[in-house]
Amino acid sequence: MIIAIDGPAASGKGTLGKRLAAHYGLPHLDTGLIYRAVAKSVLDAGRRPDDADAAVAAAKALDPARFDEVALKSHAVGEAASVVSAIPAVRAALLAFQRDFAAQPPGAVLDGRDIGTVICPHADVKIYVTATPEVRARRRAAEYRAQGRDIDEATVLADIVKRDERDSQRAAAPLKQAPDAYLLDTTHLAIDPAIRAAIDIVEATRAGRGRD
Ligand code: DC
Repeated sequence: MIIAIDGPAASGKGTLGKRLAAHYGLPHLDTGLIYRAVAKSVLDAGRRPDDADAAVAAAKALDPARFDEVALKSHAVGEAASVVSAIPAVRAALLAFQRDFAAQPPGAVLDGRDIGTVICPHADVKIYVTATPEVRARRRAAEYRAQGRDIDEATVLADIVKRDERDSQRAAAPLKQAPDAYLLDTTHLAIDPAIRAAIDIVEATRAGRGRD
């Protein structure tokens, strides 16, 4: 079974992906980490994230076995990832790895921006997770505070709005809900009820009846 989860920044898709993967005993790929790793490697080399040659070279040299998740989750790397990910040749260089990951038996859970639309258009279950920008900013700011970083919620909100715009307006594989994806709006849902709702979607799809 392949489960595709897409959604905007800080929508909770990563947590959902991880929890669904654990629930069904499937491997999980946070594809945002791949774009973040490309961005970090470009920045570390002293290049700009919109430098297509540097970004494509970094994408081709990527070694997902050596990801340092903590370093990749920084704010600056996320912003740069949003820029490198708009370069079509970068996306092309990362396609096979993601498709191979999804194709391994008995399946996988992948989360990102274009999983249901481009990477796994034939996924068994597609979920599009979203929440209002204000709620996403509140959650992200709380995460930063838990890490000991004092960052103003209004700044986080402005960044989220900018990132939504860039990720959904780009020409290459923009963020959008696949026509056959279930919409899971977590604006008024805490994490556990959101997981429950996602499991219900998977079960309903497996039972072949769709969600009520
Ligand atoms: O989900 P995230 O914040 O870790 O993703 C970082 C950036 O990577 C995001 O702004 C857009 C890009 N991305 C993408 O273009 N396609 C994906 N499948 C995943 C992430």
